[in-house]
Amino acid sequence: MIDNPLAVSVSESTFMPGFRSLDTEVSDHELPVDGTVPEWLSGSLIRNGPGKFEGNGVRLRHWFDGLAMLRKYEFADGKIRYTNRFLRTESYADAMAGRPTGQFATDEHGPGKLLGFLRRLGPPEPTDNANVHVARIDGELVAQTEVPKLVSFEGTTLETRDEFVFDDMLDVDMITAHLVADPHRGEQVGHGLSFGRSHEYKLFRIPDGTRRRELITSIPTDSPAYIHSIAVSQDHIVLVETPLRINIRKSLSPFTEGFFELLEWNEGIDTKLYVVDRDTGQIRTQPTVDPFFTFHTINAYDDEGTVVVDLVAFEDNTIVDALSLERLESEGFAAVPPGRLVRLRIGSDGTVSSEQLYDGGIELPTVPRNRQTTDYRYAYGQATDREGANGLVKVDTERGQATEWWQTDLYVEEPWLIQRPAGEREDDGVVLAPALDVSTERSLLLVFDGETLDELARAPVPHHNPFGFHGRFFDH
Ligand SMILES: [Fe+2]
Repeated sequence: MIDNPLAVSVSESTFMPGFRSLDTEVSDHELPVDGTVPEWLSGSLIRNGPGKFEGNGVRLRHWFDGLAMLRKYEFADGKIRYTNRFLRTESYADAMAGRPTGQFATDEHGPGKLLGFLRRLGPPEPTDNANVHVARIDGELVAQTEVPKLVSFEGTTLETRDEFVFDDMLDVDMITAHLVADPHRGEQVGHGLSFGRSHEYKLFRIPDGTRRRELITSIPTDSPAYIHSIAVSQDHIVLVETPLRINIRKSLSPFTEGFFELLEWNEGIDTKLYVVDRDTGQIRTQPTVDPFFTFHTINAYDDEGTVVVDLVAFEDNTIVDALSLERLESEGFAAVPPGRLVRLRIGSDGTVSSEQLYDGGIELPTVPRNRQTTDYRYAYGQATDREGANGLVKVDTERGQATEWWQTDLYVEEPWLIQRPAGEREDDGVVLAPALDVSTERSLLLVFDGETLDELARAPVPHHNPFGFHGRFFDH
């Protein structure tokens, strides 16, 4: 008997495999390959995402709450070796014991934890269920979520190491899982949020080869927005402050109860674009535009004084609720609104123009690593508006044309274009895209030609993987 109103006791087998827990872990397993993987492809795609949605009969409420599981596809000599492993954290142990705690929407002990916090007069422990993304900081691989508790892991076996500790004094209560890696300047740029008498967005850089977050600037706010990712051009950072706000008054800390409960869509206020000078930290301009919500920026670049920002925009916050497991299980993806690929051009005088670059629904967008922060032509993403499938799309942002690939029953996840080392064209390389075949209930890795999206190879994984979030490709 569960006395937790935020969780339910269920049989797992009724859910589609993308939201069904996985128990299996495999190590360094060579995948059978149907087709040809180029021999030049050398390195590892490491991805993160939920692997379990219940523990000891207690079902989590939101997709974003699933227990972190890393998956690695390692490429060498035309072969693919696969490893998957759960992050062994306190959150994992708690959930396995039927006590899910302190995550996006699920916290069995919300009020109790808050009381404990008040008694101790100290900050509560943020979750270490780092299930959103991965990064390499100062040579160390880390799993990330949106609280400042990164978890380092071993690159070969994916075994959990320790909490990753930054070598700085930056004080943040939330931190992005989306660090923007800028190979041109040799640094990663990120943002955080601190709560206090005055709440502050904090923009920072992590110079390559260090584990030091250097503060670029702090921006005070009375009503902090939920900001999932920032846009970074060569010279600017754009912080997109949407009407989706964190209502701090509902809780002394956003992590004492389900974070989901604290998010409020504020009708009647616009979306604000803070354009910040990357060197000086000064706000160049802060125009407002008609309200929209976004999780993911795609890329940004400077164009003769104008900052160009591409992102995936939603009309409002309906997407957040639609991704709850309750909604997904009862309504599937039909209730999930499509994201739109929107280009904003922000002039130095604060004028903003916008255009939609692709007619279809898109999410989980990426650009090739070496185009990050600079002008670029091709964005890759998950095409979301298919019946019974999620496809793959390549958008030519220069010409406003798109190439699409999809197959019934295949749900494609975040794609990455990996460029051929000797290639000259931006799209000379392969697109790596994990997918789940819901008819066979098996996951697979798809390999496409980066120019044409012709399928080059597919490699089935020996089990199903619940839908994941983000990953990166690390060279050998
Ligand atoms: Fe994300």
